[in-house]
Amino acid sequence: MRPNQSGIGTSRNRAISGLLACVAAASIVSASALHAEEAQPFRLCADPTNLPFSSDSPSQPGFYVEIGQALAQALGRPIAYDWYKSYFGKRTVRVTLLGKQCDAMIGLPRSEDFMGPAVIFSSAFAKEGYTLVAAKGGVIGGVDGLKGKRVAVQFASTPQNLLASRDDIQKVTVLSPEEGMQALDQGKADVAFIWGPVAGWLNKTSYNDRYQIQLTEGEGLSWEAAIGFAKTSTELRDRVDAVLPQLQKTIGELAVKYGLPTGQPVRFGAAQPVPAGTTTGTGTGPSVVQVANVVATETKGEAKGDAKGDAPAPNAETVDAGKEIFNGTCAHCHGPDAVQSERKIDLRLLHHRYGEDMRDTFWKTVHEGRPSKGMPAWKEVFTDEQFDSIYSFLLTVQAESND
Ligand code: HEC
Repeated sequence: MRPNQSGIGTSRNRAISGLLACVAAASIVSASALHAEEAQPFRLCADPTNLPFSSDSPSQPGFYVEIGQALAQALGRPIAYDWYKSYFGKRTVRVTLLGKQCDAMIGLPRSEDFMGPAVIFSSAFAKEGYTLVAAKGGVIGGVDGLKGKRVAVQFASTPQNLLASRDDIQKVTVLSPEEGMQALDQGKADVAFIWGPVAGWLNKTSYNDRYQIQLTEGEGLSWEAAIGFAKTSTELRDRVDAVLPQLQKTIGELAVKYGLPTGQPVRFGAAQPVPAGTTTGTGTGPSVVQVANVVATETKGEAKGDAKGDAPAPNAETVDAGKEIFNGTCAHCHGPDAVQSERKIDLRLLHHRYGEDMRDTFWKTVHEGRPSKGMPAWKEVFTDEQFDSIYSFLLTVQAESND
């Protein structure tokens, strides 16, 4: 199961290798269900440098890649890889999965909000999100458990937004989960409220499992990871759903192997400055590695019906498309659905700030970026049509103030 080391566009160099033997055996067993397609490799899109999730290193392939390998085996198909850097989230999905360079992408957020109807999902196989990392022993029961503590939060992340209004919690802003772990290690913070999978991975690989890690859940804090397919691949999706339950044990073991946080999530929510209608179901949180035939609760499916003011209403499809791009690419700095407590990067204030020049400013900023200020240039990444759709979405969330 040596991954194909080659890059984009060579996904057809199939890394079939040793799997062929067991594939042949499996094919005989399932001969009655055999379609011509089944001898074809199961083509997985994955990021070559994204541990704990994926890597092109055969000795440490990552959580998603190993799930893919187990799945391919269960489907009786060899596996092949299309390595693709996933920094640009949905753009990657568009190019690879929807561009038919691969059959499946493991670890997409299982939400219709994600890419609309173009992408369909398996059932959820894991829960991922932000975590509370602290010295072992003290369990943190919720936001009040952070009172009086110094809490490391990633810049412009949901936890930062969540704690922004709490004067009784001292925030230590960090730029990455790595830095959050360092802040703990150096005694600059008591708790790090940071992106869980990376925290877990670092705890395991760099900190000797010294810290206790608690998953959290709540709007923008956690979501269910599933396997994404192009919408035309319903048959493959159904077959994957059929074999997922038997992989449950393997997936649980893999989660432990890669240090992914496990246990009951701590619920956050009441204190959150987000619109109503955003609760995600009952108080009993799903377990961490929730391999599913269970009905997944949609964590992000709720619409936000608070369009403001007299902004022209572009058609809903354009707005949705823009929102999707926004939440995939821009939200990790500007906040999910553009909800952002830090004024400087609150894009709901664009109209308030620029009035008639709003569109021009938007256009120039997204094209050229403001590299010295930390705003990337996006003109190589999106088409003007996509910028238009983002703009349409932003029009629907304009406000006069951000509180
Ligand atoms: C890596 C973080 C980051 C990402 C990702 C990001 N931005 Fe920004 N953006 C910033 C920062 C920081 C600023 C504020 C720059 C400044 O201080 O002038 C900014 C400013 C802006 C502004 C101007 C705001 C104003 O009031 O002047 C717009 C418009 C904007 N971003 C749109 C987007 C869009 C659309 C995306 C997604 C395609 C995006 N940004 C992705 C960090 C980011």
